[in-house]
Amino acid sequence: MQKDRKVVIVGQGYVGLPVAMRAVAVGFTVVGIDLDITRIASLKSGISYVDDISHDELAAALASGRYLPTTDYDDIENFGVAVITVPTPLRETLPDLSFIESSGASLSSRVTPGATVVLESTTYPGTTEELLIPILEKGSGLIAGEDFFVGYSPERIDPGNKVWGFVETPKVVSGINPASLGAVQGFYDLLVHTTVPVGGTKEAELTKLLENTFRHVNIALVNELAIFANQLGVNIWESIDAAATKPFGYMKFTPGPGVGGHCLPVDPSYLSWQVRRKLGQNFRFVELANDINDHMPDYVVQRLMAILNTKGKALNGSTVFVAGLAYKKNTGDIRESPSIRLIELLHEYGASIVAVDSHVEDGRWPSGVEKVALDSESLLKADVAVLITDHDDFDLQVLNEATIPVLDTRNRLSSSESERL
Ligand SMILES: NC(=O)c1ccc[n+]([C@@H]2O[C@H](COP(=O)([O-])OP(=O)(O)OC[C@H]3O[C@@H](n4cnc5c(N)ncnc54)[C@H](O)[C@@H]3O)[C@@H](O)[C@H]2O)c1
Repeated sequence: MQKDRKVVIVGQGYVGLPVAMRAVAVGFTVVGIDLDITRIASLKSGISYVDDISHDELAAALASGRYLPTTDYDDIENFGVAVITVPTPLRETLPDLSFIESSGASLSSRVTPGATVVLESTTYPGTTEELLIPILEKGSGLIAGEDFFVGYSPERIDPGNKVWGFVETPKVVSGINPASLGAVQGFYDLLVHTTVPVGGTKEAELTKLLENTFRHVNIALVNELAIFANQLGVNIWESIDAAATKPFGYMKFTPGPGVGGHCLPVDPSYLSWQVRRKLGQNFRFVELANDINDHMPDYVVQRLMAILNTKGKALNGSTVFVAGLAYKKNTGDIRESPSIRLIELLHEYGASIVAVDSHVEDGRWPSGVEKVALDSESLLKADVAVLITDHDDFDLQVLNEATIPVLDTRNRLSSSESERL
């Protein structure tokens, strides 16, 4: 096979799988490599675990004969472009770059002259140049920027967004030198409608962290305001909707039960870690936003306690109906979801929990939580309900007609038995 038609996507998760499917769709032969044997087995049998990729789309990619899901790095030999989309979690509040290190090492001995390697994982500025390149050069014996090309392109995927998908969303691209930028931009120009070149990989790395920190801070602002507004007896949701009518200088963010996924609870901490490490300073905005957003599940518990109290009940011994576990509507992603912390806290207070969320796979269902349907019968078994995720497939009328009190953290209900966050 022609080398420049062979693309390797390292990591077949929420980010890697959509990139792989798009690369197949535009005509590349794609090796999707992942060390998770369950995920690869699922992909081989045509079952997608990523909400934005349908089983049909995956089946079409497999049927084309140009998509090979694999766990074997030998299958990536002679690639033209490799895109790294492995996790970058926090371990005990510190960035864990071990997945970039290990996947870089596995790639390095297969890098050949003329190949391009792009990092997409979210990380602090400097990772591509200071961490990835030395690994690739050591394993390949080649010189980055001269013998092969390296760049960084942040992923902006918004799971569940039907308007702005991978193809429509402008993609920021960068390289360690002009030749690398040319190679990286040339590749993504075939995948998406618009590419946005920036001067260096550090600028591209910072772009992603700026976008996520901006959201994190603004969500923290409305979350803190929601707590105060409730205490002041002001309907914050009305104020937010009114402010959003201003055609300039305002962007709408809404309060909620906390933040989840990778982008908000994890990514800004990569930036604050680097600011502390390199400059010895605290990134106060990020720390404040973490503090407020991390404590929203505690606030939800307080509100549930107060609601039960008006009925002469305690959390201890009560049953709480949790509507929605995913951190984001219309997805099944419960990583860092506020519902998980909420459930932990409720268990600590001695409450029983029943929950509904058709998007969450059985294997990821939280332990100690009974799975129920969103119907009046299940609601009647609980003492209080809380709407955490406003999935489109939820029949909110059932919650509106509930005869038990309901805490609505998304401002979607209208009944007299419901209370807003
Ligand atoms: N999920 C999102 O919405 C989103 C959006 C933008 C950016 N990101 C960033 O993209 C990166 C990936 O996120 P994700 O959500 O796709 O994670 P994910 O956990 O869904 O997928 C990553 C995959 O990489 C695999 N992997 C780990 N080490 C490997 C190795 N050495 N070789 C091959 N495969 C390996 C894992 O098994 C996993 O399946 C992270 O840096 C994340 O912060 C995520």
